[in-house]
Amino acid sequence: MRAAAFSELSGPDGVELVDRPDPDPGRGEAVVDVEACSINRHDLWILEGDSAMVDADDLPFVSGLDVAGVVRDVGEGVTGVAPGDRVLLCPNRTCGTCRFCREGPENLCENFSLYHGGLAEAATVTADRLIALPESVDAVAAAALPTAYLTAHHMLRRAEVGPGDLVFVPGATGGVGVAAVQLAEVVGARTVGTSSSASKLDRLADLGLDHAIEGTDPDDLREAVAAVGAPDAVINHLGGPYTDLGLDVMRRGGRMVVCGRTAGGRSEIDIADLFLGHKRVVGSTMGTQPELASLVELVADGDLSPAVDATYPLADTGDAFRAMRDRESVGKLVVTAAD
Ligand SMILES: NC(=O)c1ccc[n+]([C@@H]2O[C@H](COP(=O)([O-])OP(=O)(O)OC[C@H]3O[C@@H](n4cnc5c(N)ncnc54)[C@H](OP(=O)(O)O)[C@@H]3O)[C@@H](O)[C@H]2O)c1
Ligand SMILES: [Zn+2]
Repeated sequence: MRAAAFSELSGPDGVELVDRPDPDPGRGEAVVDVEACSINRHDLWILEGDSAMVDADDLPFVSGLDVAGVVRDVGEGVTGVAPGDRVLLCPNRTCGTCRFCREGPENLCENFSLYHGGLAEAATVTADRLIALPESVDAVAAAALPTAYLTAHHMLRRAEVGPGDLVFVPGATGGVGVAAVQLAEVVGARTVGTSSSASKLDRLADLGLDHAIEGTDPDDLREAVAAVGAPDAVINHLGGPYTDLGLDVMRRGGRMVVCGRTAGGRSEIDIADLFLGHKRVVGSTMGTQPELASLVELVADGDLSPAVDATYPLADTGDAFRAMRDRESVGKLVVTAAD
């Protein structure tokens, strides 16, 4: 089978199509014929050598978390899925025994990690992590969901976003950003989002963004958000200066949930404003498998249509990462099995 492996951690040019032996499932595992696998900035961090998880000793490395496809084979002890089943992988890996696994939610697991290996024709996965896909949910739409939509969904829940709330999404055009905009609309909230690109923001209006602000300068953005209103919640996947900006514009008692550091791994915040304004800052990573299953249902019911900007055949996986690096896309980029 072929895989789009990272042979160098040098950015998109480091992706190489390699041949690998066809996998056999071990006990509790399933082999899935991958129809679609979306990419995330997490994969790009790895490919650019900016992730502590993967170094030169791990090369060639096959990344790819968000796998949708058809079960080809199952190993001993697998009862929940069978060959021919259409499935979506929840990429969470948990130990199942720590205090947090026992108490939940599972994404708090102290040994939490993520599946990698979906950028290939076949993926060997833990069978218990597979979610059945209804016929009405195609593989490309499904593959958009696990990392970006699950993370945004969990963040909106942790931010206690409800009908009528105003949600601020700095960097609203990417995977997590668009997901937050669409899922906020599902719960009846309004959104204000930013981007460096006017043309990308135009496309976001069709996806439900209520107020679009073009720009990157925090002072300009501060003024423009304040003109819309004081957000009840901020979905912050950028970090850096956007943390202080979000806290500053947020209403008294507002909630900020943080999941990323695209614009910087350190943020300076105004402590007095935080406590005098009764504001909250909460960290969040991924979500739970039942939450992912509920997102699949939303799609099946026609209440959510994941935003897929473009699909790429496996051989062009490097181009998908170029589009992400060059900030060209709105929503998700998906690698497919098609030639
Ligand atoms: N903790 C978790 O569980 C979890 C899960 C998913 C993602 N994340 C993190 O969340 C972040 C977003 O992930 P993603 O896959 O959605 O990424 P993505 O699709 O690449 O996000 C693109 C968005 O980020 C903005 N952006 C890119 N570079 C920027 C910069 N230097 N300064 C300001 N804005 C910038 C883009 O703005 P323009 O429109 O201006 O180009 C666009 O809105 C990443 O940091 C990722 O690691 C964390
Ligand atoms: Zn655990």
